[in-house]
Amino acid sequence: MTNAPLIDLRDTTKKYDDGPPALAGVTLSVASGECVAILGHSGSGKSTLLNLIAGLDRPSSGSVTVDGTRVDRLGEAGSAKYRRASIGMIFQFFNLLDDLTVLDNVMVPAQLAGMGKGEAKRRAVELLGSLGMDRHAKAYPQRLSGGQRQRVAVARALMNKPALLLADEPTGALDSSSAEDVRRLLLDLNGEGQTILLVTHDVQLAASTARRTIELVDGAVERDVINDGRGAGLAAGTPTTRPTGAVG
Ligand SMILES: Nc1ncnc2c1ncn2[C@@H]1O[C@H](COP(=O)(O)OP(=O)(O)O)[C@@H](O)[C@H]1O
Ligand SMILES: [Mg+2]
Repeated sequence: MTNAPLIDLRDTTKKYDDGPPALAGVTLSVASGECVAILGHSGSGKSTLLNLIAGLDRPSSGSVTVDGTRVDRLGEAGSAKYRRASIGMIFQFFNLLDDLTVLDNVMVPAQLAGMGKGEAKRRAVELLGSLGMDRHAKAYPQRLSGGQRQRVAVARALMNKPALLLADEPTGALDSSSAEDVRRLLLDLNGEGQTILLVTHDVQLAASTARRTIELVDGAVERDVINDGRGAGLAAGTPTTRPTGAVG
């Protein structure tokens, strides 16, 4: 491939005040259109990695480049603007605003980005429709199931057509059937071309959702492999893997 990667980290390290670095010299790149699982135990640096890519935090050293932008060099305003334009995020506990309706939650990112209310509403309704949530547009988040709330969060994340969707343990708070629902939704979105980074500690979720898995151990990349068995479902058994270096 000759195109520049969508995400490019070079020797990226993040140290907090005490203890070992949360991220220790990570170098990786992700092409547009990939779905990559970031796998690792609790404390291995997964959320730190996402936060650096989202520009929510700055590395102590090394670089973070997304879509040609040196995210590690952005100031506060530049970073907020970058996030609004390029990043959609979903989280384990959805992070919806409880005093806003579903529709208003989904409209928030567009309104922050300066889109007119009418246009924002049109796009939000369309997204909720495509995610099967249009019937719930006027509901408040507390009335919805976990799986439904995550769908709303996905709609919100997609509102500004982000180059990159970051998902931090998106099925971590869901029952198994809702988790499967969200997993398929991520697969579908990636099938439509959406680049996704999926953070999880669940090996099966990683293997059945992402075509590539990067495993972090103590803040360093321990493994970076292609999953050939993606989408085969959990009954398919252990996917065969081969080093990413082996493919184009
Ligand atoms: N704001 C912070 N201040 C100090 N230490 C932190 C902070 N955020 C994360 N850490 C530490 O960095 C390491 C990696 O954390 P994190 O990226 O949240 O891991 P994961 O998401 O894989 O569970 C952990 O040891 C954690 O305690
Ligand atoms: Mg985490």
